[in-house]
Amino acid sequence: MWSVELFALTLAAVSTRVLAVSHFPHPIHADASPHRPHSPRSTFTLDSRSYVTSSSVSDSYDFIIAGGGLAGLVLASRLSEDAGTTVLVIEAGDTGDAVPSFINIPASTYYNSILGGSYDWQYSTAPQSNAGGRNLPWPRGKVLGGSSAVNGMYLVRPSELEINAWKSLISEDDSSAANSWGWDQFFAAMKKSENFTPPLDEVQKVAGIKYDASNHGSDGPVHATYPAYMVPLVGNWLPTLETAGIPAAEDSSGGRSIGGFIPPSSINPSNWTRSYSKSAYIDPLPPRSNLHILYNTTVTRIVFADNVTGGNVTASAVEYATSSTSGVKTVNVKKEVILAGGVIGSPQILQLSGIGPKDILDTANVGVKVELPGVGQHLQDHLAAGVFWETDQDTQGTIHASNSAFSQSAEFMSFINSATAYVNASYLLGDAGLSGFHDFVTGARSSSVSNLVTSTDSTVIEGYKAIYDTVANTILPGDVGVIELLLSINVPGQIAIQAALQHPLSQGRLYITSSSAFDKPVIDPQYFSHPGDVTIMREGLKLARRLGQTAPMSGILGKEVTPGSDVSTDDDWEKWLKSHAGTEYHPASTCAMLPKSKGGVVDAKLLVYGTSNVRVADASIYPIEFASHLGAPTYGVAEQAANIIRSFYNAAAPSSTSSSKSGSATSTSGSSSSQESSKNGAASSPLNGITYAIISILACALLL
Ligand SMILES: Cc1cc2nc3c(=O)[nH]c(=O)nc-3n(C[C@H](O)[C@H](O)[C@H](O)COP(=O)(O)OP(=O)(O)OC[C@H]3O[C@@H](n4cnc5c(N)ncnc54)[C@H](O)[C@@H]3O)c2cc1C
Ligand SMILES: *[C@@H]1O[C@H](CO)[C@@H](O)[C@H](O)[C@H]1NC(C)=O
Ligand SMILES: *[C@@H]1O[C@H](CO)[C@@H](O)[C@H](O)[C@H]1NC(C)=O
Ligand SMILES: *[C@@H]1O[C@H](CO)[C@@H](O)[C@H](O)[C@H]1NC(C)=O
Ligand SMILES: *[C@@H]1O[C@H](CO)[C@@H](O)[C@H](O)[C@H]1NC(C)=O
Ligand SMILES: *[C@@H]1O[C@H](CO)[C@@H](O)[C@H](O)[C@H]1NC(C)=O
Repeated sequence: MWSVELFALTLAAVSTRVLAVSHFPHPIHADASPHRPHSPRSTFTLDSRSYVTSSSVSDSYDFIIAGGGLAGLVLASRLSEDAGTTVLVIEAGDTGDAVPSFINIPASTYYNSILGGSYDWQYSTAPQSNAGGRNLPWPRGKVLGGSSAVNGMYLVRPSELEINAWKSLISEDDSSAANSWGWDQFFAAMKKSENFTPPLDEVQKVAGIKYDASNHGSDGPVHATYPAYMVPLVGNWLPTLETAGIPAAEDSSGGRSIGGFIPPSSINPSNWTRSYSKSAYIDPLPPRSNLHILYNTTVTRIVFADNVTGGNVTASAVEYATSSTSGVKTVNVKKEVILAGGVIGSPQILQLSGIGPKDILDTANVGVKVELPGVGQHLQDHLAAGVFWETDQDTQGTIHASNSAFSQSAEFMSFINSATAYVNASYLLGDAGLSGFHDFVTGARSSSVSNLVTSTDSTVIEGYKAIYDTVANTILPGDVGVIELLLSINVPGQIAIQAALQHPLSQGRLYITSSSAFDKPVIDPQYFSHPGDVTIMREGLKLARRLGQTAPMSGILGKEVTPGSDVSTDDDWEKWLKSHAGTEYHPASTCAMLPKSKGGVVDAKLLVYGTSNVRVADASIYPIEFASHLGAPTYGVAEQAANIIRSFYNAAAPSSTSSSKSGSATSTSGSSSSQESSKNGAASSPLNGITYAIISILACALLL
């Protein structure tokens, strides 16, 4: 437990000089070579029962999971709870065991990230003609745990209204299966993944944190709590929002994620380390001979049996390779292939396997197995940009740069940004503004359908309309976020308020250009193709600036350094944001759960249309974006997928998450029960005394 005295002393030693940072560069991950010396790996190595090599892989498994990322490891853990069921996970990236401090220490996210090296896919988009012609970087975790091993740890849930909008988009086909994606069941699935610990008293007081523990799970695998230390200036956040007419949420996790709040982060309070899908769902498992994990290995395609009955193809095997030049090997599947490669990997694997739009497959020289025009379509993402001010207050960055003893403590290094707010369209635009904007969006529908859809296929066009109408008629008039505001304080001497677009009207696509899994697909989100997105983003940035001019925040801010006084008119803002906005790292929807007649890829049971035994379970299946970060809901997707699959194959297994508060699984081996946490393990933390270089500090401000 850090002491207030130690903290006060440390702060006295910290320079309070305003750093003369005149220009804040783009969020480039400055560290291109993360393989620095590191601590020994022994304590982080998984039990060898789980890791296999290509020579020790069995001939066949009941389930093969493609991608050991956030969702993939949840499924691996849950499906292998049934002792008679064999499960293989194939993950393209390494284990992460060689770089424990980079993954485990929360603030490494900003100061010591593994992004930019071999643990990062390092994708970038196709040139974005409405965003300055730029190729925007799209980092993604390439490691066990996937992007949950590299992300910003915010645990934010979507609103009930958004989840129910998702459910109604799929209800027309199978209203009973669609219930899995309605609020009650989905809320229970999100809670099932969670083990919530309230904030320390001092932390709660400093930031004014509000929470309702009954909205949180208490015995799930993923730890949700607050850092051990709260930077004092965060206490200005909620009062500033209140002054601006944005009330603080009593609790943001129970279906009303609107207003200002300080959400929990995925941190384990027993030692202030990142809690992510590997440390939560895999590392604590008791021995399980029925679970194998093959890493450093890329799934290259799904193989289908020759028989086709009732029009559905059946996956019989999965092919994999370690490089484009190594030989391809095959492993047979007895029950199902589950794609959990994420928003890029899953549609890529489907297309490589002959499931996708015919023109794309023809061009890439892949034989068509199932013509499914929606694969890779409906791509949506959140875009973010920030306003930066100088400050003489101690930011996280200032304290970190001081190199004081406190700055190297596990408590300080557990601090990460999370102060946030979501504002609805009527607040952002005003009632009259919203009415005019709504008319504009409705009026632009037919020209958008003619000009902005990335496919000529009529079903994909129907899906575009369904998503568009959901935004126009459900989201815009609702009490749900269209803009997220985020307080960022990881730079020395500066404070930023970011604004991020939550419900884009622009939709893009992803597609392969060759039959090799080792060639990157083309990612074209068509950012800002719909002018409504530019309007919302512009108003969001104007609001961010206004907040900086609102008390009490205004009292601690100096000169605005980015974008600065040169940007003042609406035209200035639009021009600026098109050349400065970047991803908030929440792409979604490339295997959208929509009816097949609307360009859908999976049905309400997550089965890929035209197949009898291929499912997708990851962040690619959301038909719409949410005003949320996507980690917490994706844990929910994976938990719900495990419920659906286990109840299909194993009548004895729990058929769905109950509405019980904890949502505790009837787990036979208890992956979730071995995680008793205590809040005072810090004194003996293995992290104390390690020194951390500021390596990628400039990478951090937009790193969420
Ligand atoms: C930098 C960054 C910051 C973020 N910050 C936050 C945040 O603070 N809070 C939040 O909630 N969300 C955040 N997110 C988003 C969140 O992490 C993702 O939405 C979430 O991890 C998606 O889960 P997934 O299972 O769909 O994909 P992933 O977690 O990305 O997992 C996909 C896995 O599949 C593997 N894979 C892909 N293709 C293949 C193949 N062919 N063969 C084998 N393996 C393959 C990948 O290597 C990866 O391990 C952030 C994301 C990033 C990148
Ligand atoms: C896995 O891949 C990484 C680099 O991508 C390499 O450094 C490591 O040695 C590989 N591990 C094994 C066991 O092959
Ligand atoms: C943190 O504590 C948990 C127990 O709650 C343990 O399983 C995990 O290995 C620890 N992590 C580190 C990095 O010490
Ligand atoms: C097709 O063949 C596979 C094995 O070759 C078998 O497991 C599967 O049940 C068959 N599918 C159908 C729909 O008959
Ligand atoms: C084919 O799969 C779909 C789901 O994708 C299912 O609804 C349908 O019943 C299946 N057809 C047969 C004959 O099994
Ligand atoms: C939008 O948010 C404002 C501010 O919280 C609130 O007063 C208003 O009622 C909300 N609008 C809707 C439609 O709920």
